[in-house]
Amino acid sequence: MPKPFYITTPIYYVNDRPHIGHAYCTIVADVIARAHRLMGEEVFFLTGLDEHGQKVQQAAQAKGVTPQEFCDQMAPHWEQLWPKLLISNNDLIRTTQPRHKQVVQTILQKLYDAGEIYTSEYEGWYSTRAEQFLTEKEMGPDGKFPAEYGEVTRLKEKNYFFKMSKYQDWLINYIRDNPGFVYPDYRRNEILGFLQKPLGDLCISRPASRLAWGIPLPFDAGYVTYVWFDALVNYVSAAGYGSAEFEQRWPADIHLIGKEILLFHAGYWPIMLKAAGIPLPKQIAAHGWWTRNGQKMSKSVGNVVDPVAIVEAWGADALRYYLLRELPVGSDGDWADTNFERRYNGELANDLGNLVNRSLSMINRYCKGVVPQPAVPDPLDDELRALAAATAKRFPERVAKLELNALLNDIWDFIRRCNQYVDQCAPWALAKDPSKAARLGTVLYSLAESCRVISILLTPFIPVTAEKIRRQLAIADAPAVLIEAELWGMLVPNRPLGEVAPLFPKKQ
Ligand code: MSP
Repeated sequence: MPKPFYITTPIYYVNDRPHIGHAYCTIVADVIARAHRLMGEEVFFLTGLDEHGQKVQQAAQAKGVTPQEFCDQMAPHWEQLWPKLLISNNDLIRTTQPRHKQVVQTILQKLYDAGEIYTSEYEGWYSTRAEQFLTEKEMGPDGKFPAEYGEVTRLKEKNYFFKMSKYQDWLINYIRDNPGFVYPDYRRNEILGFLQKPLGDLCISRPASRLAWGIPLPFDAGYVTYVWFDALVNYVSAAGYGSAEFEQRWPADIHLIGKEILLFHAGYWPIMLKAAGIPLPKQIAAHGWWTRNGQKMSKSVGNVVDPVAIVEAWGADALRYYLLRELPVGSDGDWADTNFERRYNGELANDLGNLVNRSLSMINRYCKGVVPQPAVPDPLDDELRALAAATAKRFPERVAKLELNALLNDIWDFIRRCNQYVDQCAPWALAKDPSKAARLGTVLYSLAESCRVISILLTPFIPVTAEKIRRQLAIADAPAVLIEAELWGMLVPNRPLGEVAPLFPKKQ
């Protein structure tokens, strides 16, 4: 079996309520996963939940339940969200699962045995909210720590440290020598800039007396594992580290993350892997952050965009389309309701919806609902056909470069060209002249073919709509495959269409 294309999302904190930012990351990963499936690849798409740490312990205490009970109550909010967003993940790892705990302990033991971990007495400023010791780097010019760290207290502890600093130069060279490792380029520069300062060694333990909710260190039961060390390992534990399956799946092709956790993924994680003798993932891709009407989303402001509410009002495809079309992977985005509605009505309902609806309705009206037989094409048909093939051909490269919004732009250029073609060819006028019957058949065939190509290209982005188009064309029995978007003439003439219905009801 060939190695599957392996893509991951961050594992989300189980105690949060999912919002549009989490939805965004998982949807982008899903589009990439589906695009690779469309190209005929085997895909392993992983998402998951980050369940250990102080915040979970505290939230459980406040509710009067055990941390595990708390996680079990919260996990369904996430597990039930993904199908609503049409997420096609192959696995969902929870860090409280035995398969994960075992791997974390195996890797810790391996590093410990290799002399990569040592103990040291440490005194410093500790933030409970960030679950980390803070240094002067984090301190503001006023000598105080920023509010995002919450209450900061002085702590003195013996802890275990991972010898990260000795790999710093190696990492810098690795990132320099492998330009595609961190995406986009400006994040690569950011991490290289960050690595100008000493990384220090990483404190990877928390005394169990202070924090019981974590994975015990295999070599000292008085400690649990630092939550980030635990969390990062999910990418190999879910892939079956230690089994034959792992050799098949690893390395991951893409860890898709939000820009705020770049240091963990492009700094700590590669070093952890290097020290443990595990190959590195091929790419860390960081996307931007969504704000709403220019403001940071927060529960206290009450401006959080709830993905479920959007799906209920507009459908999952509309949400997926907006998030992907609005910005390139990497840039920050601003959620504005008016903009969402403009794209829905203008691009989905008008450009795409009308094209499919008027094309297929004309086949119903002028060809008794049967795919017409094309006759000799004229230059306009050749041009349409060439643009369809060019758009399909560019697809793999766009996907490889994560240019998903440019890919949607390409597809929409084609959709708009098709709409222009309808106006230029005016099938309604051809239908009035019996001597133009052959031309009418060719035009309507070209349009039906264009709809078929569009349905393939849009499958990763708006899978429900793509499937609807295929049902209307009566070709939904076979799965969409990219190679068929490059071939013109796949629709069999003289076969009846399915039931034709509008794709996107207009909303005011
Ligand atoms: N548990 C850690 C990740 C561990 S991965 C080994 C974590 N979880 S999180 O629940 O806070 O989710 C982080 C991810 O959610 C971000 O990296 C990002 O992908 C997504 N987003 C959360 N809020 C976001 C926005 N406002 N906008 C876009 N995405 C953001 O960090």
